[in-house]
Amino acid sequence: MTTTTIEVSEPVASGESARYDVHIGPGVLGGVREHVAGRSAIVVTDSHVRKLHAAKLALDAHVLEIERGEAAKGFATLERVLETFAQRSLDRSSVVVALGGGSIGDLAGLAASLYMRGIECVQCPTTLLAQVDASVGGKTAINLRAGKNLAGTFHPPSAVFADSSALMTLDDEEFRSGLGEVLKSALLAGEDFTSWLELNAAAFPRRDAEVLAETVARSVRLKAAIVARDPRERGERKALNFGHTFAHAIEHVAGFGRVPHGVAVGVGIALAVRAGASSGIAAAHAAFVERVDRLLAALELDGSLATLRRRYGCELPARELIASMRLDKKGRASEPRFVLLEAPGKVRLDQTLPAEVVERVLA
Ligand SMILES: NC(=O)c1ccc[n+]([C@@H]2O[C@H](COP(=O)([O-])OP(=O)(O)OC[C@H]3O[C@@H](n4cnc5c(N)ncnc54)[C@H](O)[C@@H]3O)[C@@H](O)[C@H]2O)c1
Ligand SMILES: [Zn+2]
Repeated sequence: MTTTTIEVSEPVASGESARYDVHIGPGVLGGVREHVAGRSAIVVTDSHVRKLHAAKLALDAHVLEIERGEAAKGFATLERVLETFAQRSLDRSSVVVALGGGSIGDLAGLAASLYMRGIECVQCPTTLLAQVDASVGGKTAINLRAGKNLAGTFHPPSAVFADSSALMTLDDEEFRSGLGEVLKSALLAGEDFTSWLELNAAAFPRRDAEVLAETVARSVRLKAAIVARDPRERGERKALNFGHTFAHAIEHVAGFGRVPHGVAVGVGIALAVRAGASSGIAAAHAAFVERVDRLLAALELDGSLATLRRRYGCELPARELIASMRLDKKGRASEPRFVLLEAPGKVRLDQTLPAEVVERVLA
C-alpha cells in the first residue's frame, strides 16, 4: 500500500503561509527520523502509546511521558513539559515530536509554541480523531476551569505523520469516537466523500487499513482546504463545528469524559439534520435524515439521544441540554448558533433555530 502526502498551506499572522506536509499510510512514522535529522528532538507521549508505538519512530531522543487523555491539558503538565525542555537544553533549532491522541497534540503543540517563543512541532497522531481532525490546522490548547480549550495558540506543525497501522491498537470506544468526526467531514465535503463513505462503511468496524488511510486523506484534504481559506475561524472554518453545538451540550450534561467526543458528535449530527429538516432548509428532508441515519448505523455509531442514554446510563434531560447550549464558552447566556446542512456539502453557518424546533429534536 502506498503513502499519500497532502500539502497544507496555512496563512499565519505575518501574512505569510506556514506550509507543511501530512504523510498518511501504514508505516509513515518511520519517516520522522529523516525529518528531524541533525537536530535535537524530544518525544512527548503517554505511557500507553509509548509502549505500543514509540519504537516505530526509531529515534534516538529523550521520551517525556505525560498523563493519558484530557488530564494532560492543564497548567501543571504544561509547566513540567516546558521545564523539561529547558533541562534537556533544547534550543531554537530543536524539534518537539508529539506522539499520541489529540490531547497530547494540543499540549505538546502549545508547549512548542511557547518555548523560546516557538520551536518546531511534528504531530504524530495515533487516534483516528487526531488523524482526521486535531493534528491538522495548527490549533493548540489547554483547558481552564471555565471551559475546554480556553487557553491556546495557533502554531502550525512542521509536518504531520498519520500512521494507519497505529489505529489497529485503539480500543473500540476510541475508534468509534473518531468515526463521528469522519462522518462530519464526509457530509461537509459533499456528495463524493459521502457516497464513498456509504460504499465503504462496512470496512470500518474491521479497520481495513486501505480504507482508513483513504478516509484520513479525504478528511485532511477537506480540513486543509478550509484552513487555507480561513485559518482563524472567522467564517468558513466554523463549518467544522457541524454537529458540535448539540455534542458539546451532551458532553457537558453527561459530565465531561462520560460520552466520547466523537460519539457525541455523531448524535449531534443526527439532531442537526433533523433540526435543519424541521426548519425547512433541507431540500429533501426525510430522505436526507434517513441517509444520515443509515450512515450512523453502518458506522456502528449511536444515532439518537435514546440509544446514547441507554448505552452510557445518563439521563440527558432536554431542558438541561437547552440550558447548556445557551451558555457560551465563558458561561454567558447567548443564543445558540448551529451549522446546518441542506444536503452533503451545502453548508449554512451561524444559524439560529426556533425554540420549538430544538425542543422537538431533543425530546
Ligand atoms: N487542536 C485541534 O484542532 C483539535 C481538534 C479536535 C480535537 N482536539 C482535542 O483532542 C482531544 C481528544 O483527542 P483524542 O480523541 O485523540 O483522545 P485523547 O488524546 O484525549 O486520548 C486518547 C487515549 O487513547 C490512547 N491512545 C492513543 N493512541 C492510541 C493507540 N494508537 N492505541 C491505543 N491507545 C491509544 C491514549 O493513551 C489516551 O488514553 C480533546 O482534548 C480535543 O479538545 C483538538
Ligand atoms: Zn470535534
